Amino acid sequence: MKKIIKFILLLGLLALVVMQFIRPEKNNAGYETVMAFENETKPSVHVASILKENCYDCHSDQTQYPWYAEIAPFSYWLADHIKHAGGKFNVSKWESYSIKKKDHKLEELIEEVKKGNMPLDSYTWIHGDLAEDDKVLLLQWATVARLQYKGQLNMSSN
Ligand code: HEC
Repeated sequence: MKKIIKFILLLGLLALVVMQFIRPEKNNAGYETVMAFENETKPSVHVASILKENCYDCHSDQTQYPWYAEIAPFSYWLADHIKHAGGKFNVSKWESYSIKKKDHKLEELIEEVKKGNMPLDSYTWIHGDLAEDDKVLLLQWATVARLQYKGQLNMSSN
């Protein structure tokens, strides 16, 4: 019995070692990729830094990786979050979104931040949650940014 347990532990250890060689590709296309989004939605310097510190790690093509991102299985787990989040809302892909989609994503953003769903809990455990003041600033900025898209949508429907 003891031998079997040892064998299983050894196998687990071996799997962990082998996993270290399988590295998910890094999401590091650079902060230039968020410029189009910021030029259009015009966050203040402060709001831009809130976005960068709390959202861009998952919702842009530029992630600031923590040290444990080098270690499997955390590396897989982070890559999975980033892929999933970016598929839904990626500021680096902003230019490819239609006006309607941009407006809708900002609407979702307001909802998610209001409900406290974003940033994800697993992220705030490590990075800390959004401060209440920062939440308010984010909501104000997103509400104003939506106005221009709503205006454009109204114009095109007339
Ligand atoms: C740790 C990664 C992570 C961080 C940090 C994060 N998000 Fe997310 N976000 C996700 C994931 C994953 C989803 C998809 C959730 C789902 O589909 O259930 C998501 C979904 C969203 C959506 C919904 C998009 C849609 O169309 O359904 C919005 C909006 C959003 N996040 C905004 C934000 C904002 C704003 C911040 C910063 C305040 C933020 N997120 C921080 C991972 C993250």
